[in-house]
Amino acid sequence: MCGIIGYIGHRRSQDVLFDGLRRLEYRGYDSAGVAWRENGRTECVRAIGNLDSLGLALAAHSAGAGASESPAVATATVSAGIAHTRWATHGGVTEHNAHPHADWSGRVRIVLNGIIENYLELRDLLAVKMIQCSSETDAEVVAQLISYYYDGDLSEAVRRTVDVLSGHFAFVAMCEDEPQTLVGVRQECPLVVGIGDNELFIASSISAFVEHTRRVVVLHDGEVVIMRAWGLTVCDGGGFPRLPEETRVEWDEDRCEKDGFETFMLKEIHEQPSAIAETLRQARATLDPGAHHRLGLAELRNIRRMIIVGCGTSYHAALAGRMAIERWARVPVEVDVASEFRYRGPIIEPGTLVLGITQSGETADTLAAMRLARAQGATVVALTNAPGSQATRDADTVLFTRAGLEIGVAATKTFIAQVVLLYALALNLARARDALSPARLAELERDLDLLPDRVGQVIESADGPMRQLAERLVWSPFFLYLGRLSGLPVALEGALKLKEISYVPTDAYAAGEMKHGPIALLGRDTPVVCVATEEAVLPKLLSNVSEVRARGARVLAIASEGCKQIAEHAEHVVYVPPTDSLLQVALAIVPLQLFAYHLARARGLNVDQPRNLAKTVTVE
Ligand code: AGP
Repeated sequence: MCGIIGYIGHRRSQDVLFDGLRRLEYRGYDSAGVAWRENGRTECVRAIGNLDSLGLALAAHSAGAGASESPAVATATVSAGIAHTRWATHGGVTEHNAHPHADWSGRVRIVLNGIIENYLELRDLLAVKMIQCSSETDAEVVAQLISYYYDGDLSEAVRRTVDVLSGHFAFVAMCEDEPQTLVGVRQECPLVVGIGDNELFIASSISAFVEHTRRVVVLHDGEVVIMRAWGLTVCDGGGFPRLPEETRVEWDEDRCEKDGFETFMLKEIHEQPSAIAETLRQARATLDPGAHHRLGLAELRNIRRMIIVGCGTSYHAALAGRMAIERWARVPVEVDVASEFRYRGPIIEPGTLVLGITQSGETADTLAAMRLARAQGATVVALTNAPGSQATRDADTVLFTRAGLEIGVAATKTFIAQVVLLYALALNLARARDALSPARLAELERDLDLLPDRVGQVIESADGPMRQLAERLVWSPFFLYLGRLSGLPVALEGALKLKEISYVPTDAYAAGEMKHGPIALLGRDTPVVCVATEEAVLPKLLSNVSEVRARGARVLAIASEGCKQIAEHAEHVVYVPPTDSLLQVALAIVPLQLFAYHLARARGLNVDQPRNLAKTVTVE
């Protein structure tokens, strides 16, 4: 996810901004840049790669300009600037596509997070006015528009620009003609203002400036903030000012980095609604069958068989994806653990599409499986969260989840984003192959759009009960997870979460298989977690639950609201909102993530970095 910081005050802005970028580094990025006012003009330096590359570029710039390289010295005059870490979405990872972006004259500069959905349309409108964009980004369009509307008042030009933008974004603009002003806008992307001692900060996260001030003004959607050396004004979209509500942040710096959460894992669980929404937005833009890429209409129609490979959580997402692709698009799908697939001599016929799922884009087994498939003539698609990763280079086409950087080793928001992207792919396949009626397609699309809100509701409602339950069961020596159909990937993934962060022996099974062996593990009080969200097999699952209860085990069930029978069979039931049974995967996994989280915390464990595990497994 990109990061923004802006500064206006008495310090050398270049240094404050660079330090701020360092504090946003954890969010992930592939290029960075800074623009600042110096000696009566605006300087701008951008670099691809990490902040060390930007640091070198800044040093070279200072040397070239003959400026002093002395570190942060207080200056008598006001210094202002903006800076950004970019994670490429529109246009490749190049210095030219990095932020800050300028208009054609270099008068206006902006840094932007989010996506401008109508940027192609706006680019055409600008071209009619003889204004050509020089980068491939959506952000440059915003700089060009502000310059086009500028008539002596930056905030007014920004407001007029916002009126023609659609999408979700936050940006900060500066202008040569108003060297002591920064203007920021928030529209469904975070942006906060920090009030210091005769200085102001603006950033996408409090962590970027918390070392300087803890006095914060949170902006609301549609608001514009005008920051000048002598104060700030917050206005609504119509330009009417409101009294800025100042709050004091008491978190320590470490906690600020986690947006106030106690761990990255908990923060990332709470980021799932936005991971889904962002991924769906991206999917709609890139999966359009009319778009010119290797998964266009003709390719989607001609696929005869799919093979999905992945490891760990990505493999579980593949299992959920298979069900959607087979059920909705009627394309046969095989799912395999990447480390098995690559050694089993797989048969790949013409018309086979191989999809490699890897959030990091660097897992050795998944990469090897993809290469093998490609060498045997398959079209290979990578589904990843990491732009620029090896998987993106090894595939014919890439589908990106937009979950933002995941720091906790346990995959949470990347899992949900993978599942949702597979659902969007399944619906596109169904549409291209006329496998579903238009009414059913529309219904599923609607339900998909409702997922972010529904996942948000589940996080809110399940957190407390899951904490209590985890505290009660904290020293249970063994857990069994059961599910059927779409409940099975949820059970497998829930069990994996518990194993990896709590170190509790846990098994997960297709519920119908229980009587073929695992039932021997059940004793008095063994906790058994049943995912009972798949209506088609509910009676079957209930009969499995009865078998479990007959052995004195304790049943915790995840079920859809309105499912009455389950309460008679289970000791604890966590209800999730009803929706299509496949989409339930994204809802049902949330209580299980929270359960694993709270159980590990109750055991006093470090959930962000469990023992023996690394975030990326690159060694074969
Ligand atoms: C799950 O919580 C783990 N982090 C692990 O199973 C992970 O999903 C697996 O190593 C695959 O990683 P990838 O998606 O980056 O390829």
